[in-house]
Parts: sequence; C-alpha cells; structure tokens
Amino acid sequence: MTAQTPTTVEVPWNRPSLGEEEIAEFAGTVRSGWLTHGPKATALEEAVREELGVRDAFAVSSCTAALHLALLAAGIGDGDEVITPSLTFCAGPNVIRQVGARPVFADVEPVTYNLCPEQAEAAITTRTKAIMVMHYGGHPADLAAFRDLADRHGLLLIEDAAHALLARRGGLRAGAVGDLGAFSFYANKVITTGEGGILFGRRDLVGKARLLGRHGIDSSVWQRHNGRHTADYEVVEAGLKYVMSDLTAAVGLPQWRKLAGFTARRAEIAAAYTDALSGLPGLATPTVLPGVEPGWFLYSLFIDPARAPLTREETAERLLTQYGIATSHHFRPVHTLRFYSGSATRPLPVTETAAARQLSLPCYPAMTDDQVQRVITAVRALWGP
Ligand SMILES: Cc1ncc(COP(=O)(O)O)c(C=O)c1O
Repeated sequence: MTAQTPTTVEVPWNRPSLGEEEIAEFAGTVRSGWLTHGPKATALEEAVREELGVRDAFAVSSCTAALHLALLAAGIGDGDEVITPSLTFCAGPNVIRQVGARPVFADVEPVTYNLCPEQAEAAITTRTKAIMVMHYGGHPADLAAFRDLADRHGLLLIEDAAHALLARRGGLRAGAVGDLGAFSFYANKVITTGEGGILFGRRDLVGKARLLGRHGIDSSVWQRHNGRHTADYEVVEAGLKYVMSDLTAAVGLPQWRKLAGFTARRAEIAAAYTDALSGLPGLATPTVLPGVEPGWFLYSLFIDPARAPLTREETAERLLTQYGIATSHHFRPVHTLRFYSGSATRPLPVTETAAARQLSLPCYPAMTDDQVQRVITAVRALWGP
C-alpha cells in the first residue's frame, strides 16, 4: 500500500443543522430547573402524536430503546421469531435477541431495498410474532402490503422508521401504519437531539412501554412533582430506565418544527444528484416509486463492479483522498456481522448484492449548493469524460 497524504474532509458525510432556536430552548430548560422527562418531553410527544395521527407517543433515550420497549410491551420473548431485513442497522436485531426472541432475516426487494412482502410472508412460521420493517434510507416499505400481511397472519407490525421521519407512500405516513413505530434522533439523523428517539402507535402498547420505560413505576416523576408526593409511587413491573430528558427534548422541539424544511432541502439535493448522475455506466441512482415522498435520510448510489470504471471501494477512497468528500456504506448486512454469523436461515442474494454496491453520498440541509456541486463534479470526473 502506498502512503497517503492526510485527507482534509471538505464535505463531511453528515453534519447536523442546529441553530439559535435550539440554543434558546435548551438554555430555557437549564434555567427552568426541570431537567428530566417533563413538560418539554411531553410537548414533543404531543407534537409527534398529532402530526402522525397516532394514539400515543413516548419520548425515549434512543430509537434502540423504543424498539426494545416495543417488543417488551408486545410480550415478545423466548422462542418467538421476528421477521426483519438484514440490510439494516444492528439495533433492531439486537433488541430482538435481547428479549430472547430470534431475528429471522428475509430478503429485500431490488428497487427500494426494503423488506420484500413476499419474502417476509415465506418466512412466517408458527413461532412468528411480529414483522419489523425498516424504511431503507427514508423510502417507505410497502406499508399497505405489510399491514395486510400482518393482519392476515395475526402478527404485530413494528416500523423502524429511524430513516423516515417525514415520508409517505400511497398517502400513508411512514411510522403511522404499524401497531408501533419508532423514530431516531441520533446525531446523524434527519433531525437530531444527539441521542434520542420516540415510540408511538397503539395506546395500549405505548402505555405499557411507558410503564416499562420508567422502572415499572405507575406514574411519572413530573406527575408526582405536580400533584403527589415524589415518593408516592408503586412499582407494578420490573422495568427499565429509557425516558427522554427535558434537556434532550428542548433540542428536539425546534428540530421537529424544522423537519419539513430539512426534508425539502434533502429532496432538492437528491434531485440535483439524480439529474447529474443518472446514466453514468454501472452507476444506479435511487428509484422513487410513484406515490412516494421519501424522507431522504440516505442518498444511495449502487455501483456495479462489472460495468463501472471504479469499484465502490475505489470510488469512496478517491472521493475522500482526491476531493475531500466523505461517504458511507449502509449497511454491512446484519447476518454477516460476527455475532450473527450463521444466523441467516434463508438466502439473501439481493441484500448481499446491494450491500456490496451501495455508497451513501453526503445529503443534508447543512450542505451548501457549492458542496453539492462539488460532489457532482467529483463523481462525474471519476467516471471519466
Ligand atoms: C435503521 C436504524 N434503526 C435504528 C437505529 C438506532 O437508532 P438510535 O441510535 O437512536 O438508537 C439506527 C441508527 O442509526 C438505524 O439506522
């Protein structure tokens, strides 16, 4: 290997957009003296509940916590199976394992790289309790097909909507179709609180999750602060501590108000990339199906090594070292990660091909038009005249 000159990253893969509104709301919370889950977290829950038209929402410490609580609230555990894509982040499969159940990986479909409804149906057994879909990159999975599939088989539908905070398919809002849905507010997500997430959906299940996420205590500390003695509580379940603090929610509230604007800017950048990069040999740009408004968490290129002048790895390396442009890969399929090795019980050819070819370009509202143009010019230059 030849020595490389140290790379200066001119266009990071991701950068959050935080401003004076977040600083003011955060400072106000610091000054208020109420730091843990209280009025701000409750306001965020109400905002999400209202916009999605769901019955209830519970703001938590991460999307992983939300997914963990979803499974616990649904009583999924030892010996149960949950169908999930392998082309996802490890969070979903990990929490399935944490409750004692088994993730059953089904293949994705080759256009949007979302879990394929037919492959998911073929993976159903008598032990299957739930399907956990993930909206890859922000393009919703086939929501109507999965709702129907879950209903026909009496299964719970959980939407890992970490990538799809504002996305629709056929008029259906991603996250709001499942029995439960979860958003992530992690540092690189469409809106962020650094760490954070929210669980929402059916009132009975979110109510159970809320109880389990605050130690199994029958009332919140904010309720007790306002009306009851703080020590006046009962523990009715062996719970966990997953609540979102008001410090976190203070950042989340202005971020939530900016979601539509952020998503529109992401869509604008995606359109510029697709315009400029479609038709280059061996390079596929993302497909948006009719009737879909994607959340554009990811802008994915798929590089076919047999037809492109560069492999995916060479492209990433040269974008970084020659042009200072950072990229990412989404994802290493979960069944190929060490802990999960040997866990795939069904062939996953589309997952494996997609994962080997996928390259995530920078696509976020903090990018300037100049940076967007820089990415376009660099990819076109690498593909030759
Ligand atoms: C698809 C998906 N689900 C879940 C998560 C976990 O989110 P969090 O970091 O908020 O727990 C991520 C995080 O990157 C993700 O990409």
